[in-house]
Amino acid sequence: MPEEVAAAPLARRILDHGLVLFRTGTGRLVALADRCAHRLAPLSVGCVAGEHLRCGYHGAEFAADGRCVVVPGQGDIPQGARVRSFPILERYGFIWVWMGEPGLSSLSQPCGIFGYLEQGDWSTRDGYIPIACNYLLVNDNLADVSHTEFVHATTLGSPNARATRKDGMPLEQQGQHTFQAELRDGGIDFCIRFSNTRVAQVFETAYARVRGRDGWDTLDFRLEFVFRPPGFWIFRPITMRSGAAPEQGVQLDAFIVVTPATATTCHYFHKSCQAYAPRDAEETDYWHEQTGIAFREDKAILEAQQRNMGAGDLRDFPHVSFQGDRLGFQARRLIADLVAAERGSPATAAV
Ligand code: FES
Ligand SMILES: [Fe+2]
Repeated sequence: MPEEVAAAPLARRILDHGLVLFRTGTGRLVALADRCAHRLAPLSVGCVAGEHLRCGYHGAEFAADGRCVVVPGQGDIPQGARVRSFPILERYGFIWVWMGEPGLSSLSQPCGIFGYLEQGDWSTRDGYIPIACNYLLVNDNLADVSHTEFVHATTLGSPNARATRKDGMPLEQQGQHTFQAELRDGGIDFCIRFSNTRVAQVFETAYARVRGRDGWDTLDFRLEFVFRPPGFWIFRPITMRSGAAPEQGVQLDAFIVVTPATATTCHYFHKSCQAYAPRDAEETDYWHEQTGIAFREDKAILEAQQRNMGAGDLRDFPHVSFQGDRLGFQARRLIADLVAAERGSPATAAV
C-alpha cells in the first residue's frame, strides 16, 4: 500500500521474487530486485541515499534503473554491476509493479475497477493482511458467500440472510432474496439482494450510526461483488430502508487485492472506502475495524486449510464440491484462461 513505501526500504516477496521498494529523496517510487549485485546481500537492509539505494554491506549504491553507480573506495564500477529494476506505478490508492518482460508492460492501465475512487469525495483507510495460503484459496473464499454464516457468525454473517440456500430461513424471508451473477469485462459481477430482513449486526449498526435507530425493525440489504482476475475484488454491502433506492443507503466499498507471494503465501491488501459521510473519518474507521475482524476470520480458516494441504493445491486431493463453489470455479477458470493466453508470462501484481 502507498503509505508502506517510504524512505525506509520495504522488502516484499511477489511471485517468488524478492523485491525492495522505496522512495528516493525526490519522492520517486522504485522497485528493485532485493539482492545486491556484489555479494547478494538483501538491499532492503540498506538505506536510501539521495536518489540511490545504498547496500548495507559494503555500501554500493544503485540507481532507480538498477545500475550500480557507486562503489566506495574505487572509481571503476565493475561491468554488469546492476540489479533488476521493475516498472512501478502508484494509482487508485495502490502501488502496482509489473513483474513480466518490461517491453510487455501494461502498467499504464492497471485494473480499472477501482478508478471511480478518483472521482467524488471519498474517505478511505488502508489495511494489509499477510495470509499463509495460495492466493487462489482466497479467491475461492471471496467468491463463496456460503461460508459467511459460519466463519463470520458474529460479524458479517447472519442466518437471516443466507445467500445460497433457503432451508432454515425464517418463513417470512423465503422468496425475498435474489442472487444474480454475470460475466463482465473478463471477470464476474454478482449481487445478492434481501428485502425486509434483519441483517448482520455490523450492517444494522452501520445504518443506525448515520440514520438513527427509530422507525425500522428490518431493512433492505444488497451485497455486490466485483471480481476481475487474477485477484482484484470489490465487496460492496449497502443497507437501506425497505423499498428505498441503493443510492439512499449506507454503502461501504471495500477494495481487496490478492497478490501471490509464494505458492503457499499471499498478500491481502484492502481499502475501506465510504462516500456517504466523507468528512467523518469515524465512519470509515468503523468499517475498517469491522471488515478487518472479518477478513482475519477468513485468514484463520484459509491458513488452516492450506496447512491441511501442505504445499499442495485443492486439485491434488480428492474433494467434493457444493453449489456454493460455482463462482469460485468460474474465477479459477478465468485465471487459467489468462495464464494460457499469456503463455506463462506473469501478470501485473499489486504490492
Ligand atoms: S553485498 Fe552489497 S555492497 Fe557488498
Ligand atoms: Fe469471508
